[in-house]
Amino acid sequence: MPRVGVLLSGRGSNMQALVEQAAGYEVVLVASDRPEAGGLASAREAGLATFALSPKGIGKAAFEAALDDALREADVAVIALAGYMRLLSPAFVARWVGRILNIHPSLLPAYQGLDTHARALAAREREAGCSVHLVTDELDAGEVLGQTRVPIEPGDTAETLAARVLVAEHQLYPRVLKDFVHR
Ligand code: GRF
Repeated sequence: MPRVGVLLSGRGSNMQALVEQAAGYEVVLVASDRPEAGGLASAREAGLATFALSPKGIGKAAFEAALDDALREADVAVIALAGYMRLLSPAFVARWVGRILNIHPSLLPAYQGLDTHARALAAREREAGCSVHLVTDELDAGEVLGQTRVPIEPGDTAETLAARVLVAEHQLYPRVLKDFVHR
């Protein structure tokens, strides 16, 4: 069974979806750059192994070296970023090239980066969505592995749209990850 490490900085709802809907892969480690991340607490409650370390004070290189060690010790084959809010260094990405996935709340290549929903609403888009893609050195720019389209409703705010897209994220990510580890 392919072993997956999830990397997060926040509440971790996508991590939970990956764990709850795991089929054809196994989440063996949940790691975070924010020891106070809600997703880490949920992972611990679910009995998952966790790794928590802040880069503050030790620097990015030392943080990534420790993270890399933890992922290798857990014998992780694929890394799934799930609300990981830091850019991985080109050196880290090179060590895991082709084996890091991310979920982004837009129909890539549209709306890369932050504040996707607010920008889509400001542009009067009629459709939003989410994408799972391979991670490269360039932000939100690797091969798209799967997408779900989500309608924008009249009166939507960034918050209501984000909530609707998040439901789609939780369905898309486990399915794409399963297909990816078996492709
Ligand atoms: C999601 O919207 C995801 O698309 C983006 O960050 C958010 C993470 O949410 N990359 P959660 O921590 O998985 O709940």
